[in-house]
Amino acid sequence: MHFPEYRPRRLRQNENLRRLVREESLSVDKLIAPFFVVTGTKVKKPIDSMPGHFQLSIDYLVKEVEILRDLGIPAVLLFGIPETKDEMATGAFAKDGVIQRAVATLKDKVSEVLVITDVCLCEYTSHGHCGMLDGGDVENDSTIEVLGETALSHAKAGADMVAPSAMMDGQVLAIREALDEGGCESTPIMAYSAKYASAFYGPFREAAESAPQFGDRKSYQMDPANSDEAMREMTLDVEEGADIIMVKPALPYLDIIRRAKEEFDLPLAAYNVSGEFAMIKAAAAMGWLDGEQAMLELLLAIRRAGADMIITYFAGEAAAALAR
Ligand code: PBG
Repeated sequence: MHFPEYRPRRLRQNENLRRLVREESLSVDKLIAPFFVVTGTKVKKPIDSMPGHFQLSIDYLVKEVEILRDLGIPAVLLFGIPETKDEMATGAFAKDGVIQRAVATLKDKVSEVLVITDVCLCEYTSHGHCGMLDGGDVENDSTIEVLGETALSHAKAGADMVAPSAMMDGQVLAIREALDEGGCESTPIMAYSAKYASAFYGPFREAAESAPQFGDRKSYQMDPANSDEAMREMTLDVEEGADIIMVKPALPYLDIIRRAKEEFDLPLAAYNVSGEFAMIKAAAAMGWLDGEQAMLELLLAIRRAGADMIITYFAGEAAAALAR
């Protein structure tokens, strides 16, 4: 079919035609909202680089999660900022740690919402790396033991799902074994499988107070140049027992999302990270683009690329926009 017989514009003439031929859609069902939890009460500290987001104490977290529940958001993802950090990340697996208490409170007060916990050590170590150090680098095998212990402590506190993000080799297997041995064989693992060493995490590190105190994360997070390697990482996580695999960040890695969708049949998550959020917010604040339209377009693009679910700081705003 060619012009002038075929005219694609025929099916774009009005909104009803466009609705009928629309291939992809956004739904609140697919959104996961991240939160940063701190100790204390009545804390709501704005995160400058992430307008509308705060470090929240557990009492205020409950209020925010209630709002998202009322908007129909199915799940939240929690990051904890402990009172004190140390070399061994003891705050990560403490029975009364900030995340363990946040999970228990949420499951008590807003039980309708699924609580997913990020399982990493960078918020809990004094040096800000994602595991225990041996010399100047993160020691893999002792770290995955601690990640297993941390995940189990989250599950025992009531977490509905755990999400390991440290990019250590064997972390999914170590966590699966720890959960199974601890009687939490029903707790699913959402694995940050292809997580890149990205500049787009900048605002998050302010929010989670987790910037590395020296060096970078390039010895454990992936090189942005690689996509075959992402498939290998995903294969490993599938074999180690991941229930959901993830690509992170999302926007600069839509090709990886598409490949993962084609090569694996596990549910696929994409993490629309802090820097992706911040750049839209900054441009919108300057009046340089329509923030709401840009938000909806980028979330739709992540779905179109193949993500089944999206972790996004836009979750609340997108749910409100979709409900209008
Ligand atoms: C923990 C972790 C990070 C993010 C999620 N989990 C930061 C990092 O790896 O430095 C980034 C999320 C975001 O930027 O929104 N390792």
